Amino acid sequence: MMLKGKRIIVTGGASGIGRATSILAAREGALVAIADINQKMAQETADLVREEGSEALVIEMDTSNKADTLRMVDETISAFGTIDGLVCGAIKLVPGKLEELSEDDWDMVMDIGLKGYFFCAQAVGRVMLENGNGSIVLISSVGGVQAYNGAGAYSVCKAGAIMLGQLIGVEWGGRGVRGNTVCPGQVRTPMTEAMFKDPEIAAGRASVVPMGRVGKPQEIAEACVFLLSDRASYMNAGIMQVDGGQAESKMMHTPGRNWGGINMSYTEK
Ligand SMILES: NC(=O)c1ccc[n+]([C@@H]2O[C@H](COP(=O)([O-])OP(=O)(O)OC[C@H]3O[C@@H](n4cnc5c(N)ncnc54)[C@H](O)[C@@H]3O)[C@@H](O)[C@H]2O)c1
Repeated sequence: MMLKGKRIIVTGGASGIGRATSILAAREGALVAIADINQKMAQETADLVREEGSEALVIEMDTSNKADTLRMVDETISAFGTIDGLVCGAIKLVPGKLEELSEDDWDMVMDIGLKGYFFCAQAVGRVMLENGNGSIVLISSVGGVQAYNGAGAYSVCKAGAIMLGQLIGVEWGGRGVRGNTVCPGQVRTPMTEAMFKDPEIAAGRASVVPMGRVGKPQEIAEACVFLLSDRASYMNAGIMQVDGGQAESKMMHTPGRNWGGINMSYTEK
């Protein structure tokens, strides 16, 4: 068991990649706190964690609210004793063209997906620094290394997450706290379902991936669990691409490729 006895928090753990990570972490022996704004779905994840024979805690919270992130830490310590690992994945995707993007939509994405990552990492990091031990995994995206057209502030937010992961690794690595970033490619989850439900569009999107298919949430969870574990003891300030080769191929923006960008309305034809 790669995470036997480790106490971890997964933000965005109610759904998609966060849920898959919570379940896999539990299978590998971790006690899992599921921190999410959606309490109902977080409870479902908690049930799935318990089915793996582990302990689960549900924390209803908003990552963009600093007080909530401090309470998240307190509740986890009360329940589990301390915190060994954090995975940040909470996001709200608000598609939009750059020329039309409103301040509110920009702020929502950046507040949840970047400032929220910082709040969570800082609150949890202080505990880990005191322990002299811990692993923080930030979920970014291919969109953090290549511009996702039509995705509003998403790519800027995800590029920031990569730098935050590097900063954590550089500032805290010498004190026992590793920071790393995972960059998933396209994965079918509730967030992207609107884009993948049309088979024609799904095929177009898969065609920009050298492996010819999109990813499964479990395939991203594997990377997160590895980085949380002591098996990744020398991985710090790193960027792990789990994308079937999408970022490296640069096919997304090749003329003639119909990748469609991150545009929910693209499916409403
Ligand atoms: N699905 C993909 O194709 C893909 C690709 C690359 C990167 N990612 C990244 O992976 C992570 C998970 O994405 P997903 O596809 O599983 O999405 P998802 O929508 O299935 O899950 C996101 C979770 O975040 C929660 N959330 C939203 N706002 C919140 C807030 N303010 N506070 C707390 N929780 C909040 C939601 O309730 C949900 O449970 C995200 O960071 C996303 O950017 C996803």
